[in-house]
Amino acid sequence: MPDTPSVEARDPRSHRRLVVGLTGGIGSGKSAVADMLAGLGAGVLDADAIAHELTAPGGDAIEPIRNAFGPAMITAAGALDRTRMREAVFADERLRHQLEAILHPRIGTTLRARAASTPGPYLVLVIPLLIEGIDRWRASVDRIAVVDCPQSMQIQRVMARSGLSEAQARAIIEAQATRAQRLRLADDRIDNASSIEGLRAQVATLHQQYCSL
Ligand SMILES: Nc1ncnc2c1ncn2[C@@H]1O[C@H](COP(=O)(O)OP(=O)(O)OP(=O)(O)O)[C@@H](O)[C@H]1O
Ligand SMILES: [Mg+2]
Repeated sequence: MPDTPSVEARDPRSHRRLVVGLTGGIGSGKSAVADMLAGLGAGVLDADAIAHELTAPGGDAIEPIRNAFGPAMITAAGALDRTRMREAVFADERLRHQLEAILHPRIGTTLRARAASTPGPYLVLVIPLLIEGIDRWRASVDRIAVVDCPQSMQIQRVMARSGLSEAQARAIIEAQATRAQRLRLADDRIDNASSIEGLRAQVATLHQQYCSL
């Protein structure tokens, strides 16, 4: 999308750091990988965390959402009513696009604003829906890293973590890009089908690689 100049594009003379887009399906282990990379010294920015800020009381997306969707979508405390919005956008693709049209440019702007002040040898942008929004994000990342595991494990982990039912977990997974679609666009695949220790070893190798690119 033309409204998304690349992260760190503001100063073409600066030595750009490598920017890695980290993605994966719900419950695949993105946050686990991001935390490990941050622990190794990478600069990490999380699109989901920014979306939460934008939709918290006083967040920049609250008034646009109120205007587009009506006051019923905003809680008494002034935050986005996430449950209500989730149900609405799940049932109606047009509403989902409308919400994305509000959130995505603002997420992009916030990411760009924070990139410059985030230290680290390279930058990791955790973008859950990177593949679904590849046209929007392509110019902002140099590489795509995909955290991958079988769907059955995603379901187990999501259920254990959030208390969603199996049917709810499946419905979310079905609304996302497929495993094959993600892997087709992946420069780096992180296999999270086994232990946390196994994950940590892969992440350490990847960190070395990213530091040397
Ligand atoms: N290799 C693993 N072994 C066991 N549990 C794991 C493993 N990797 C991640 N988990 C657990 O599975 C859950 C999902 O992992 P995580 O939160 O990192 O995924 P995510 O991709 O960030 O999910 P979301 O899309 O909801 O943000 C967490 O509770 C995490 O602790
Ligand atoms: Mg996460």
